[in-house]
Amino acid sequence: MKQTLAFLAGPGLTAALLIFFCGLTFKLVWYFRGLDWRLERVAYRPQMSAGMAGGLHSIYRWLLPYGTHGWRSHPLLTLYFFLFHAGLVLLPPFLLGHTVVFGQIFGFSPPALPQLAGDVLAVLSLIGGLLLLLRRVSLPETRLLGTFSDYALSSIVLLVLVSGLLARMHTENYDLWLLLHIAAGELTLILAPFTKLSHMVLFFAARWQLGADYAVKRGGHRRGPCFPW
Ligand code: HEM
Ligand code: HEM
Repeated sequence: MKQTLAFLAGPGLTAALLIFFCGLTFKLVWYFRGLDWRLERVAYRPQMSAGMAGGLHSIYRWLLPYGTHGWRSHPLLTLYFFLFHAGLVLLPPFLLGHTVVFGQIFGFSPPALPQLAGDVLAVLSLIGGLLLLLRRVSLPETRLLGTFSDYALSSIVLLVLVSGLLARMHTENYDLWLLLHIAAGELTLILAPFTKLSHMVLFFAARWQLGADYAVKRGGHRRGPCFPW
């Protein structure tokens, strides 16, 4: 077990991070190149400054909890979503346990969150994720849309959170929980470019495009870039 752990926390992690960053960069470039194929970028180039303002405004509003009509019309979904995602976005780079590993492998690491903040974010993220899953299975409209792969991805991410928290408790099964945690965490990183998990970058691309589109084409020249999302 010790050898597997050492492999996963060393070369395994480096490989997973490479696939994650290269794969998601490729997805992002492909998204914007794809706009060309449908001639959608035609108006964006000459109108870049209006488009950029509209695109950034759209991203900004959708990243604010309850910042848009869409978020406000589903208050509970919004709460679960932001609880779940606050941990998922902040913990991988800034959790103390992670920064220690980064320091060992790369010789440098981002600043770490205080332990208590990490624990609170982790627990809230798990609660948010479980509530999202419960909502997904209990509402007929979301149950109908959910595919096997959606459930599988949500379960892997929840497994990362549960095993991380169990490892953090430093029980006698520490090595086992840590092994499971690192394996599930690296699986998440490796799957991200190939599955719907790529939304972690494509969200920004799609929101930028919509904001730019509304600022450039659909009466944006009269209204200004700030579409009332
Ligand atoms: C800043 C980065 C991210 C953004 C903007 C983002 C945005 C979103 C959005 C808009 C949804 C759909 C919510 C809904 O209507 O049901 C979603 C769902 C989801 N996201 Fe993210 N996400 C990000 C990062 C991540 C990361 C890093 C992970 C995992 C490590 C992740 C895992 C998930 C999962 C599993 C779901 C499905 C939840 C469910 O409905 O059961 N996201 N995300
Ligand atoms: C999607 C990716 C990941 C997420 C969301 C995640 C999340 C977490 C969470 C929630 C905890 C418990 C935090 C606490 O209660 O303070 C944790 C602990 C930890 N994670 Fe991750 N993790 C991820 C990937 C990884 C990877 C790839 C490694 C590989 C080295 C790793 C190594 C650790 C370590 C060493 C701990 C500390 C365990 C201890 O307290 O001794 N994590 N992680």
